[in-house]
Amino acid sequence: MSDSVLSIFTPTVHEERTYDRVFKVALIGTGWIAEAHIECYKQMPDVQVVALVDLIPGKAEKFAKFYGIEGAHCYEDHKLMLQNEELDAVSVCTYNATHAECTIDALNAGVHVLLEKPMTVTTEEAIAVMRAEKASGKMLSIGFQPRMDPNMQMIKKIVDSGALGEIYYIQTGGGRRRGIPNSTFIEKSTAGIGALGDIGCYSLDVVLNAIGYPKPLTVTGYTSNFFGTNEMYQYADAAHSAKENADRFNVDDFAAAFVRLEGGIILDFRISWAMHLDTPGDTIILGKKAALRIPSTECWNGTVGGAMKLYTDVAGAQTVTEIPIIPSDDAGLFFKKIRSFLDAILNDSGAPVPTSQILYNQAILDGICKSAKVGREIEIEIPEI
Ligand SMILES: NC(=O)c1ccc[n+]([C@@H]2O[C@H](COP(=O)([O-])OP(=O)(O)OC[C@H]3O[C@@H](n4cnc5c(N)ncnc54)[C@H](O)[C@@H]3O)[C@@H](O)[C@H]2O)c1
Repeated sequence: MSDSVLSIFTPTVHEERTYDRVFKVALIGTGWIAEAHIECYKQMPDVQVVALVDLIPGKAEKFAKFYGIEGAHCYEDHKLMLQNEELDAVSVCTYNATHAECTIDALNAGVHVLLEKPMTVTTEEAIAVMRAEKASGKMLSIGFQPRMDPNMQMIKKIVDSGALGEIYYIQTGGGRRRGIPNSTFIEKSTAGIGALGDIGCYSLDVVLNAIGYPKPLTVTGYTSNFFGTNEMYQYADAAHSAKENADRFNVDDFAAAFVRLEGGIILDFRISWAMHLDTPGDTIILGKKAALRIPSTECWNGTVGGAMKLYTDVAGAQTVTEIPIIPSDDAGLFFKKIRSFLDAILNDSGAPVPTSQILYNQAILDGICKSAKVGREIEIEIPEI
């Protein structure tokens, strides 16, 4: 049956909304990802961006001018901004190393927070953030826009349908043959972690969200940085030569791990910014009734790389069912991430991507680093919050 015939049965939804309140919003950090946040906020009639902060002198002002954010107050110090401004919400768009500090300060100032991924660098920071969230009673949502992707939602629907049966093994991750982002992403002082925090957190979220975020119990982790630290595989950017980028590189560009999750599920994980291979493999979920293969992408930013395949036996015959890719676009996902955050504040309906889930994502990332450092399996211990 052709799409034109099928579309007869698809209801057309015209969303007409009226807005009763205006959200006063600030952005902390006006770097690359803040551009995606401001593009979305500017399209929302119920949002007024009243303040911009960046610790680099003049950067917030330049950003305000470029995006035509008239009347926005610009600051270099987020604490001063939080003291001076009456806000409903902030987007924390700083590099990973300052996520915890800026988020805790905003929550303590009584402001709802949309925090970019990864949640933090360490588990200890994530716990401190969650304690501030609890004490403030404000909403904190973590910026995983692939959650809005209908393909990612389909993975969860398949798991929730019971089609796979009891899940016992998951392989996830992926990565790039060459794809080191440089900039503030490659030094511990700004990024804290490398490929793990940049794209590893997405790989974990795809599968952990699908299976209901079971608690991680133990992890054996490995990290390396053979490519980032080698001038031969580095490149010059606006601020540094290839040699300078290799010299300052001190985070992971590859990581692998074997994680035991509550419920007896094994999670086999690997992520890469650079390696001598196109992909370290697809994401697979093995269940007692069926298995799901989710094709990797070259970039590994949490998207599904092609039609998924469901393997099962029907009346003794081994079958494979293809689940076609559902079209979606990155800009739309980002808009939905921000809109769902604001709507959750309006409706008091709980964070779209709650810290109670992402804490486990963070504990695995941090567990990989800690296990790699001591060279053995470690237990993941998470205190009461
Ligand atoms: N969701 C996504 O698709 C996505 C994509 C890229 C990056 N990110 C995340 O966004 C974050 C920022 O990445 P980016 O590419 O914009 O980095 P960036 O280096 O371009 O921008 C970060 C900015 O934050 C500023 N900053 C840092 N600490 C600050 C503080 N305490 N107060 C005020 N400003 C501060 C820096 O000066 C810098 O201008 C990272 O955590 C990254 O993982 C998310």
